[in-house]
Amino acid sequence: MPKSHPRNTGAPNEESNDTPVTKPIELQPGSREYYESLLYSLTEGILVFDMELRLAGFNRAAEEMALLPLAESLGRPASDVLGKANEPLVELALRTLETGRPHTGFSAEIFRQDASRAPVEASAAPMDDAEGRPVGVLLVLREASRIRELEEEVKKSERLAYLGTMAASVAHEVRNPLGGIKGASQLLRDEVRGLPNEESLAEYINVVIRQVDRLTGILDSLKGLSKPVAPKLLPVNLHSLLDEALTLMAPDMKKHKVKVRRDYDPSMPEVVANESGLSGVFINLIKNAVEAMPRGGVLTLVTGIPSDFLYSTIKTDKGKKTMVAVKVSDTGSGIEDEAMKDIFNPFYSTKGGGLGLGLALSLKVVEEHGGTIKVDTEPGKGTVFTVYLPVYR
Ligand SMILES: Nc1ncnc2c1ncn2[C@@H]1O[C@H](COP(=O)(O)OP(=O)(O)O)[C@@H](O)[C@H]1O
Ligand SMILES: [Mg+2]
Repeated sequence: MPKSHPRNTGAPNEESNDTPVTKPIELQPGSREYYESLLYSLTEGILVFDMELRLAGFNRAAEEMALLPLAESLGRPASDVLGKANEPLVELALRTLETGRPHTGFSAEIFRQDASRAPVEASAAPMDDAEGRPVGVLLVLREASRIRELEEEVKKSERLAYLGTMAASVAHEVRNPLGGIKGASQLLRDEVRGLPNEESLAEYINVVIRQVDRLTGILDSLKGLSKPVAPKLLPVNLHSLLDEALTLMAPDMKKHKVKVRRDYDPSMPEVVANESGLSGVFINLIKNAVEAMPRGGVLTLVTGIPSDFLYSTIKTDKGKKTMVAVKVSDTGSGIEDEAMKDIFNPFYSTKGGGLGLGLALSLKVVEEHGGTIKVDTEPGKGTVFTVYLPVYR
């Protein structure tokens, strides 16, 4: 929002009023301009509230995140500024004021003025003056990096849908000739029977058939990227889905000496969902977890109502929804900071032969259900993927 660009509040342009000439501004460290520029440049959204929880300051990123022109809101109560939908953020600020203690690392969603939502990580800290007297509270909003990545790099739904439509049509076109190749190869395998070099010929033909199968598998995954075809929504028991996924992965887990722990909340409600979509999500997450522990480890599946108050309910246009959470944890490689921004991007993979579609598709499915996926990881220690899903009634 250029009008609140603090650099424009600096010395007036001496040259002329109608030709905007940008002179490089020398920033004196410690000067007012210096701090204004700092705030302006931060990609974190900053909102400052006074002791009565009225808006006392903000930066550009906060405006962009909330899609709100905030200048008019100075002096207005936080609940008005942020709106009813953002109550958790107001509560966070209020709790910080009341307790005088910082609260960090809250995962929340910011409801923007245009009714879209953006996952953010929110922190709040009490603000003191030079004498240490409390003067207000600082709310810091950071757009969850994976979303920012998807929005910026893939332009999320549009580009993904475009990519998906492209991929699906290519997949469709390529499938038929592949079917032909496979059919012919199978016939050929029968034809070479009895020849003196049957064994080596059959082996070559089998390579062709196996690789064709692999290509067909890739094409099937690609089809999942195309626009959703209004999946059937039915009540789904998440525990059965998880157990099915475990059964499917059992041979791999045995091979790599991966132990399984299950901590299922018996009071978990069913969720109304696209069963095969969600099943794919859990298979992907469990598969990734197992692949992250090639030399063994523990896979833990935990279900329940999330204790994090910002995630325990979600407000939608259809009212408040209870959320359930499924945690898939491993004691594997963990994910380096550098890679975190990429893991949900289609075709990002650090595995030889990996397709890099598992997480992209999983996130897409979960978001179609109105849920989200959170990642906590520690390189060398392990990773926790938490799937949050709303319970619809
Ligand atoms: N549980 C995990 N532990 C460590 N890294 C992971 C985990 N899950 C995903 N990743 C990282 O994210 C990347 C993308 O995952 P995914 O989309 O499933 O694709 P793929 O498994 O085909 O590589 C992986 O290549 C890996 O680097
Ligand atoms: Mg995967």
